[in-house]
Amino acid sequence: MAEMANAGFSKELDAFIDEWKNKPGNLIMILHKVQEEQGYISKEAACEVAKRTNSHLARVYGVMSFYHFFKTQRPGKNTISVCLGTACYLKGGQDIIDEAKSILGLGDDKISTDDGLFSVEPVRCIGCCGLAPVMSVNGDVYGKLTKNQIAGIIDKYRDA
Ligand code: FES
Repeated sequence: MAEMANAGFSKELDAFIDEWKNKPGNLIMILHKVQEEQGYISKEAACEVAKRTNSHLARVYGVMSFYHFFKTQRPGKNTISVCLGTACYLKGGQDIIDEAKSILGLGDDKISTDDGLFSVEPVRCIGCCGLAPVMSVNGDVYGKLTKNQIAGIIDKYRDA
């Protein structure tokens, strides 16, 4: 197993931070790398990045909230991505996301189930607008969705 630095960073991530910590755009590059390795940016990871780049923690969180692709919660084993691009939005993408969250018991601010099995996230256009509204689960794309199909689709991944 790779030797771990603080916040569970691998040696590779550690070296990446050393390389980038004083360059312009360092926070975005480093946060991307953290999310790539850990799947999200934990509080510990954000603190470690702030420390290593000599930045205020508020600045790190500022960057994370400005760029919506940074996740602050650990994603579930199965990632449900619901497209909220224009075509999907107009065809009821928000209803699809609401239905998925309601089936999984997720409130407004919660993206992952307590058992870690599922997470639900809105995404931008995934390029299948003709099939709107669209969602994908672990990369499997489902199109022309209606609300009553969502429970069945989620069930397929429960025991997978
Ligand atoms: S807008 Fe949803 S796939 Fe393009």
